[in-house]
Amino acid sequence: MSLIIRNLSINDYDQLKDTMVESYSAIGGQYWRKERIQKLLHLFPEGQFCIEVDGRVVAAALAIIVNRVDCGEQHTYEQVTGHYSFDTHDPAGSILYGIDVFVHPNFRGLRLGRRLYDARKNCCRRLNLRAIVAGGRIPAYCRYAEQLSPQHYIDKVIQKEIYDPTLSFQLANGFRVTCILTNYLKGDTESKEYATLLEWKNVGYKPTRAELKHKETGVKTDRLYGPLTISPSFAAA
Ligand SMILES: CC(C)(COP(=O)(O)OP(=O)(O)OC[C@H]1O[C@@H](n2cnc3c(N)ncnc32)[C@H](O)[C@@H]1OP(=O)(O)O)[C@@H](O)C(=O)NCCC(=O)NCCS
Repeated sequence: MSLIIRNLSINDYDQLKDTMVESYSAIGGQYWRKERIQKLLHLFPEGQFCIEVDGRVVAAALAIIVNRVDCGEQHTYEQVTGHYSFDTHDPAGSILYGIDVFVHPNFRGLRLGRRLYDARKNCCRRLNLRAIVAGGRIPAYCRYAEQLSPQHYIDKVIQKEIYDPTLSFQLANGFRVTCILTNYLKGDTESKEYATLLEWKNVGYKPTRAELKHKETGVKTDRLYGPLTISPSFAAA
């Protein structure tokens, strides 16, 4: 079996689409249209990864860069992706925002997701970004929704009393839950449209000159110290 992890290319599109449809079959087989993937590859090629097994793309992870201001705590998937346009991508931002990760159902539990996350972490380190942030689905929540609040459910997943295919995976990869998002992904009936806001900190992050200057002078820089709210341009996206 040959396994290659590499940056995504537009030539992968047909296989990527098939894998994505299978991956999300439980919530309607949503997939990215070709022009959207093309735009993402144009904006941020080094942030998009896929895994090829025996010549077939069976897994992928997609990301953009945003400002801390832009990923203010409560937000929806539609907002963070700029109505799915990726116009929210800002190469000068400090956060790598994970917009998708999926592994074909026949290839799950083989640590392909882990490899994609390792590639994403390396990308975050290489670009000297402060952290990776993502809104994570909680697809097993629908089985517990009648007995447990989302908070209670997430606590049980963190304590390993319940296994959630997505949240357990993200926790195993060193992410921590920073808040609960409501109405995050339209049509995500499995998660009851709840999601976790997840963060992985790049401990090797080197502050920029402006940030060091702030430490000396107390002068705020927009890049880091904006309030944790959604900026007007972002909210209108
Ligand atoms: C979430 C997803 C990407 C995980 O991919 P995966 O390749 O199956 O995950 P991995 O094999 O890399 O698992 C990594 C860790 O997750 C946990 N995990 C994964 N599958 C598990 C299972 N069946 N039982 C218990 N733990 C499991 C383990 O802790 C594992 O840690 P380990 O490497 O120490 O064993 C995959 O389930 C998926 O595509 N889901 C549908 C799409 C989706 O919802 N994406 C998330 C959008 S927010």
